[in-house]
Amino acid sequence: MGTSRLFSGSADAYNRFVGRYGPHLSGELIATAGIREGQRVLDVGCGPGALTAAVAALVGPDLVSAVDPSEPFAQACRDRVPGADVRVAAAESLPFNDDAFDATLSQLVVNFLDDAPRGLSEMRRVTRPGGVVAGCTWDYAGEMTMLRAFWDAARSLDPDAADEGTTMRYSDPESLGELWRGAGLADVDVSPIVAEAGYEDFDDMWEPFLAGNGPAGAHTVSLEPDAQAALRDEFARRLGSPEGPFTLSARAWCAVGTA
Ligand SMILES: C[S@@+](CC[C@H](N)C(=O)[O-])C[C@H]1O[C@@H](n2cnc3c(N)ncnc32)[C@H](O)[C@@H]1O
Repeated sequence: MGTSRLFSGSADAYNRFVGRYGPHLSGELIATAGIREGQRVLDVGCGPGALTAAVAALVGPDLVSAVDPSEPFAQACRDRVPGADVRVAAAESLPFNDDAFDATLSQLVVNFLDDAPRGLSEMRRVTRPGGVVAGCTWDYAGEMTMLRAFWDAARSLDPDAADEGTTMRYSDPESLGELWRGAGLADVDVSPIVAEAGYEDFDDMWEPFLAGNGPAGAHTVSLEPDAQAALRDEFARRLGSPEGPFTLSARAWCAVGTA
């Protein structure tokens, strides 16, 4: 998948979109991966830096590195986490020596890699033997409530809409477990983690789709105004037509393995 195009929006738009779940999700990923004070940690596909910031709060920014191929996202991450080593680079060719980290993490990234098996092999290479490689992806077909309701609405209006529940290759325990084991990681475990995000009202959730972020945003901006309005109405209906503030939960699958 050509991903730079999918994440070419601003960091602010991303943070209002799925980035809203980022801080809560990061805490769950860090806990599941067992990250501890004193560890050197790499965040692969850091985006605007939700996970980088959460890791830095635990181990200190001096022990944190992060990479993303998007220059605006890497800059937003640098601004968010002063002192961390943030570089513009892709997972498939990490600019670090072998065994450089105690832990390598990736949050919501592996589906967007051009070559996910190569990316995971690189993550293992830069992690010291006995260190941890962990990552999570949304449960697109199931309990990522916002995206599931969005694609159910989109497909009810256009059966050919490219539902992430079917287009995302790594979004269930089996495929993630295979990806991790295929990279030579040992003791692989995949478990669910859940994050929540709050919204002022429906438009607070809908507006970031209009910025074109990710596959759902790209689908939204590809529609003519009438079709976009119909999608908005159907999406709202599937979430119970919320009038005021509401909260949604989102489940991700988290894979953890030992290098
Ligand atoms: C859904 S965002 C997740 C961002 C961040 N990890 C978070 O949790 O908010 C996916 C990220 O993967 C990045 N990405 C795309 N292709 C990549 C690649 N080949 N290597 C590393 N990151 C990549 C995108 O630029 C984007 O920042």
